[in-house]
Order: sequence, then C-alpha cells, then structure tokens
Amino acid sequence: MTKASGVHTPDAHRVPSTDQLDRLRAQTPMYDAVIEEVDGRRIRIGDHWLVDFASCNYLGFDLDPEIIAAGEAAVRRWGTHPGWSRLLGNPRLYPDIEERLTELLGAPDSLVLPTITHIHMSVLPALVDSGSVFVEASAHKTIYDGGSYARGLGAQLYRWHADDPDELARLLRSAAADRPRVVCLDGVNSMTGNIPDLPRLAAVCREWGALLYVDDAHGFGVIGERDGTGDGAGGGTPYGTRGNAVVRHCAETYDDVVLVGGFSKAYSALLAFVAVPTALKEELKLAAPPYLYSGPSPVHSLAAVLAGFDVNDSRGDELRATLHRLTARVLAHLRELRVHTPNRHATPVIELPLSAGYDLKDAADLLWRHGVYVTLAAYPLVPRGQVGFRVQLTAAHTDEHVDQLNAALTELAAHNALRPTLL
Ligand SMILES: Cc1ncc(COP(=O)(O)O)c(C=O)c1O
Repeated sequence: MTKASGVHTPDAHRVPSTDQLDRLRAQTPMYDAVIEEVDGRRIRIGDHWLVDFASCNYLGFDLDPEIIAAGEAAVRRWGTHPGWSRLLGNPRLYPDIEERLTELLGAPDSLVLPTITHIHMSVLPALVDSGSVFVEASAHKTIYDGGSYARGLGAQLYRWHADDPDELARLLRSAAADRPRVVCLDGVNSMTGNIPDLPRLAAVCREWGALLYVDDAHGFGVIGERDGTGDGAGGGTPYGTRGNAVVRHCAETYDDVVLVGGFSKAYSALLAFVAVPTALKEELKLAAPPYLYSGPSPVHSLAAVLAGFDVNDSRGDELRATLHRLTARVLAHLRELRVHTPNRHATPVIELPLSAGYDLKDAADLLWRHGVYVTLAAYPLVPRGQVGFRVQLTAAHTDEHVDQLNAALTELAAHNALRPTLL
C-alpha cells in the first residue's frame, strides 16, 4: 500500500456491492456462515466441525460457568432487558460497572455505552468538534467512520502512520491550533496484534496540545500493568497483570489520553467504555447521542461484566498465562517454519499474509479441510498486499486445538502459501 499521509479521503470505505458479497461467499463457506452448534472452542457449520480461531473471547468468559450463572441470576432479577436509554434510567448494574472499571483501569472516571462503534460515532465527533482528527493508517474501520462523521460535521480529517511520529508532529503543527486536535489509533492493533509506542506518541500529542484517543478493543483484558522487575513483564508473561489495557501496560497516564475499550472481546459481553475525567463524562451524557437515544446493553451482558471483574480478580492472570502459552506455541511453530507474521509482542492476534499470487480460496479450502476456522482477509476488504488471514487464540483453546492449527500451517507453508520470514 502507498504511504500517503495528510488530508484523508476515505474512498476505500465505500459501501461494497452485493456482487462482492456473492464473490466472498463463493470463495469459502467461512464467510457469512451460519453456526449451528458450539462445543467449547469448536463450532459446527453444516455438518462440518471446526476449531474456532476467529473468536475474540480471549479469556474464555463466554464459556465460563461462573459468568453464565451470574448472568442467569441477573436476568431473573432484572428481566432480560432494561427498557430505558441511559439518560432516563440505569439499573444499579451500570454504576457498579463504572466504579469497578475505573478502579481497574486506574483512570479518573469512565462511561459505558453498548459498543465501541457507538463511542467512535458519538464521543469522537464530540471531542473533535470543528477541529482536526488524525486517524492512524492501520486504525480500525470504526475509528475511520467516527472520523468521517466528524468531518461531515465540519472537522478536518488527516491520516498518519504509527511508525512515523515525525509525520504526526508535522501534521499537528500545520493544523489550526485554536481548535481541538484529536489523534486516534488502535491500542493492540486489530490485525497485527502489535502494541503502539504510546509514551512516544503521547509526548508528541502533549507537545502540540492534542488529545490522544486510543481504541484498545483487543488489549483490554489481555495486556495490563507491568511490575517493572527486570524483564518489564509481570505475572510471568509479557502481557503484565490485571488486563487493565494499553495505557497502564505502557506505564502512561490518562493526562490528555482518552482510552476506549470494549467488553465484547475479552469479557464476552455487549458493552464498551471510554475512560475520561468526571467533568467530561458529565458533558458526554448530553453530547454523546447513544447515552440519550440508544437502547441499553442486555442485562445478561451487564451482569457478565460484573462477574467478569470477579473472575479477572481471582483467575485472570492464570487465564492470561494459558493464553500466552498457547499463543507462544503458534508463534514458535511459525518461526520453525520460517513463516512471516507481523506479530512482535506475542499478543493472541496473529496475522498471516499470503504469498504474492497465492489464492485465498485455496488457503481457505486447506484450512477448512483441516477443521480450522479463521478470519479471512480478502480483497477488497483489505488492500491486495494484505490478503491473508488472522488467527486468534483464547484461554478456552486446548493444546490439541493448537496442534490442529499448527498442522494446517505446516501444510500451507509446504505449499509456499505463506510469506517467508524477512531476513
Ligand atoms: C479495534 C476495534 N475497534 C472497534 C471494534 C468494534 O467494536 P464494537 O463491536 O464494540 O463496536 C472492533 C471490532 O472488531 C475492533 O477490533
């Protein structure tokens, strides 16, 4: 992909046609699939059982008996669904979640809304107002959508690259200084799994009076604070402890840093959050439309988040140790095969771009035959140079599941389907 920066015209994000959907479906039954049954981390599509390496349920909370039981009890107490937008009424579960989340993150305060998409489409434009928004080139599509919406409301939209803080500084210097400037990027990147150099980027933003807005959908619950002992890890893995997300992991502060995260990955519940000072939280209650106008998260999800905090306190670091061990097995196998992945930080998000010219359909067929289900990254959903697939590990996978994945990767490598390690 070309490394264009500056004013951004997001033409790559036009609505795809239904022909394209048909072409995706024709490539593999892994697209737009109907899942008939779940058994642990295995799923059934038609009569074909596969191990699910596309699940974002990193801690395995979706299958945890303690969390399922807590959700069932809450539904009996509160009914299935709160009937109010948050501005009207909040079941007690909401303030309890925000209090515990704020403590976990070590943030000044926090506000929860149903999804991260809601937050990017409402909180981000409210923060940017008529100023400038700088979206990192590999940021998640939903951040671009929030930036595009802000642009529609009168903001300027720019694009920059995380590996080039000087480019960011140049863009910040050229933008109007008397209006808000908000710099956005992924925490743990949703495709590469890599962790950005937050201290460096936060320093650039602070120098230019900009706000740093970080979406750590894939990091919350997985990476967390580090104890500073020698290897800089903590909890026996490079993830650190408590799963309290990228700001704490990078030993950064929340000064002019807004952290966004979600419970729908590691915590397996439909809820998301933005960590902000209390005064801004109060402003957002009127400035962010989903707080006023959108339906709430289901009761089971709210209760699952609270039970998830308990499990995180009692067993979270153990689950993260399992997650890291299984991830490390896959990464070690890729190293043995001399296969390239951009993953540098051993997070459970492993992107595998295909060799130039290798057909994604052939790779998907081989994975299907091996009973391995992945997230396929097909053109035009990604640029041609990034066609491939992503595998994700969770604490609910077993060593046998990893053996099955590694066997499929061995065969793909033997067909030269995967890119060789860069020397
Ligand atoms: C980095 C990132 N941000 C946002 C989202 C969307 O989150 P939500 O489903 O809570 O809107 C995703 C989902 O995959 C994601 O990976």
